[in-house]
Amino acid sequence: MDKYCFSYNQIHQTISKTADKILATNFEPDYILAIGAGGFIPARILRTYLKKPIITISIAYYDGEQATTAPKKLQWLDCIDISGKKILLVDEVDDTRATLAYCIQEILTHQPAEIAVFVLHNKHKPKKGAYPTVIKHIFVGEELSDKWIHYPWDALDIDKHDGRYNE
Ligand code: G4P
Ligand code: MG
Repeated sequence: MDKYCFSYNQIHQTISKTADKILATNFEPDYILAIGAGGFIPARILRTYLKKPIITISIAYYDGEQATTAPKKLQWLDCIDISGKKILLVDEVDDTRATLAYCIQEILTHQPAEIAVFVLHNKHKPKKGAYPTVIKHIFVGEELSDKWIHYPWDALDIDKHDGRYNE
């Protein structure tokens, strides 16, 4: 198998099981903070179990038409004060960790009480960034090897994606 292909159902199941683990800890977030766009659907499913409000941020690796190596904020925490709040940062995949590490470093400047991380999938590979030691909780839905993951929300033909294509 050179890739992974997950259905919405499998993803919902993974989030349900991980939400149980979050609820069993003493970490209770004030906000779920979703990194767009990959973190949006996992965050919404997680809200079903955690029952906490979602706020969103978005990062891009392009500046207008120009691709950049440095992440750039497309949408940030402009309308909400998270100082003193407990944040559960949500993304779909911990790949190189570049985006996650950048977001954490920037979110820390807003002085939250605590940041925890939820990722649906963690790929086993060398990471470009480390989680700061202030992060005490890292919740991982599934540990995977370093292969490309096909997510249902990227599918142009969802029946084919879920193996229900019979022609
Ligand atoms: P990380 O901190 O989450 O590890 O992100 P990294 O910068 O390494 O990832 C760059 C982009 O590549 C991210 O999307 C990430 O979601 C995407 N990506 C990495 N591995 C996979 C994979 O196996 N499958 C899919 N479908 N995407 C992958 P992004 O630029 O944030 O885009 P999006 O979240 O808006 O879709
Ligand atoms: Mg992403």
